[in-house]
Amino acid sequence: MTSPRTSRFPYAKGPDGSRRLGYGADYNPEQWPREVWEEDVRLMREAGVNIVSLAIFSWARLQPTSDSWDFGWLDEVMGLLHAGGIGVDLATATASPPPWLTTEHPEILPVTATGETVWPGARQHWRPTSPVFRSHALRLVREMATRYADHPALVAWHVSNELGCHNVYDYSDDAADAFRDWLRRRYTTLDALNHAWGTNFWSQHYSDWEQILPPRLAGSHPNPTQQLDFKRFSSDALKGYLLAEREILDEITPGTPVTTNFMVMSGIKGMDYADWADSVDFVSNDHYATTGPRSRDELSFCANLTSGIAGHRPWFLMEHSTSAVNWQHINLPKRPGELARDSLLHVAHGADAVCFFQWRQSAAGAEKYHSAMVPHAGEDSQLFRDVVELGRTLEALAPLGGSVREPARVAILFDWDSWWASEQDSHPTSLLDYHREALDWYSALLRLGVRADVVPAHRTELGPYDVVIAPVLHVLPQTLAKELTRYVEGGGHLVTTYFSGVVDENDHIWLGGYPGALRALLGIRVEEFGPLADGDTVGLDPDPAAGVDGALTGSLWTDRIDVTGPDVEILARYRTGTYAARPAVTRRRIPDRGSATYVSTRLGADGLTALLPGLLAPAGVAGELPEEAGGAVEQVVRRDGGNRYVFLVNHGDAEVPLPGLTGEVLVGPPAAETLVLRPREVAVLRQTASPDAATQPHRTR
Ligand code: GAL
Repeated sequence: MTSPRTSRFPYAKGPDGSRRLGYGADYNPEQWPREVWEEDVRLMREAGVNIVSLAIFSWARLQPTSDSWDFGWLDEVMGLLHAGGIGVDLATATASPPPWLTTEHPEILPVTATGETVWPGARQHWRPTSPVFRSHALRLVREMATRYADHPALVAWHVSNELGCHNVYDYSDDAADAFRDWLRRRYTTLDALNHAWGTNFWSQHYSDWEQILPPRLAGSHPNPTQQLDFKRFSSDALKGYLLAEREILDEITPGTPVTTNFMVMSGIKGMDYADWADSVDFVSNDHYATTGPRSRDELSFCANLTSGIAGHRPWFLMEHSTSAVNWQHINLPKRPGELARDSLLHVAHGADAVCFFQWRQSAAGAEKYHSAMVPHAGEDSQLFRDVVELGRTLEALAPLGGSVREPARVAILFDWDSWWASEQDSHPTSLLDYHREALDWYSALLRLGVRADVVPAHRTELGPYDVVIAPVLHVLPQTLAKELTRYVEGGGHLVTTYFSGVVDENDHIWLGGYPGALRALLGIRVEEFGPLADGDTVGLDPDPAAGVDGALTGSLWTDRIDVTGPDVEILARYRTGTYAARPAVTRRRIPDRGSATYVSTRLGADGLTALLPGLLAPAGVAGELPEEAGGAVEQVVRRDGGNRYVFLVNHGDAEVPLPGLTGEVLVGPPAAETLVLRPREVAVLRQTASPDAATQPHRTR
């Protein structure tokens, strides 16, 4: 069950007491002289800002030495913000320990796998498991909570900042001790651990818990289950730290909701946020758009997954950027329209607050070239005008606060264990990219105009979905394998891919031929994997039953498939490569029930766009947008009791007419006979929800 905690969303209120969507930024007033603060509040009001995250990196200013405190300046800032009608998501300020602490206690500094100390000089240089760090940080949390518990500006607590961004993997002696404790709790006995880790291999048998270490630099491949458990442990250790902070906040300010900003974005994989969701009162996320042709598919995918993690309750976009960041190889500014389009895409997927890093662009420090709401150029700038306009747009969208995403008929399962395990070393290929494969499927669905929910594999009721896509569901415990079988037997349509169902939760192979955990359900058996060399491809010939026009091309992976079960149709065969003429895509259709499809190679977004219509057809699922959308428009729907809010998001750079789409235009082009989206534009239409439009609610367990 998802905890009821995740619904305590800190809505801002309009003058008439009605809900407003949140709008704001990280606010770092300590970087500026006092006279700028009043100017800040004036500009925030002009932009419609109603919430800021404060004191995230303020530890050194709040506690200048181990025995002295200086809250005066923060009191003043809190007062100014409150007088300006701006709520505060107050950080516990523990993200970056001050120099006095690391000088007095260098034993809090993280250690890399190769034994190097991670020195201070940047930020987040602390061990998640350090008892010394914890005692100092929790002392600060207690001071903050006690001082500001009753402050009228306080609307939420912001624990630390992006836990694990730089310090998720620590291999220190503190980590080793905590890892052993974690393993004791997981396995109880050494025998169980030895079994799970397969320690008969390479003479790794442990006869004492103290012999166990984190997977530090080793001469060859460290034990894979040790590596996987270390990833699980590292995510848990940070969650444990989050819970330690929140315990104090709950004790002192039980009425104030607690959050911490997750980082559901590509490239960040250390934290299992599906598992963290119950530890916060409302889910917050930070997302920075990548560059490249699929950057907005990735944005949509991550926003969608954040909604899934939040159990489809409203969530809080805590950070994104108004324009360029500073930490990519080349930091491209956003193009006209992208500031608003990116923000509204998050809102479409359930964000009821839109915030940026940061309010005022820094004049000094590592992030001085990172964009902000007030740029170096000041208020007389296009960027600030865009910021003000977005504030107006979010005001116009106030009515949809609290509405939820209308459930899609298709789900894509996302699973951290499979992400972690499938990309470990000593595998058939090191080129497998879990996130990319999931995104390929998502991009294909976007192009087809088919709405999908991206949901955590282990927390989602599958029954309500007509189609469940499980890309590279590599780690398949028996319980989930059984659930997938029940799903298909109950009429569901399952689609899975290469390297799925191969290992159990201990990373042990399901024996007897791959994919062991799904063999019977799929009606196939794979004796040997056939990964492809980098750059190699294979041709596929689709069967007419697949409904694919033309040939398909596979890369990365192939499988030597034998059909072993009844009712299996071959939707495509390899035309070239080692397995030429053998099955490449199979589907088992269980009479009067559902189906189970297996795609044994990487088809990429293009190939999947061709294949998917045929896979969706038996479930009666098809694109919902007019042909004119041309694959460039994403549709997302939010709904409350009486209304549907239809978001139409132009991902492309061309104008798109959308005939037949009607409703009251809350945001977007002026009313015309045919709705026409300009490049990168978003329209939000309000429609009256007919009772029969209501689909079954999302269900989490
Ligand atoms: C986040 C972080 C912010 C800022 C931002 C820059 O990771 O929370 O403090 O550094 O990135 O993009």
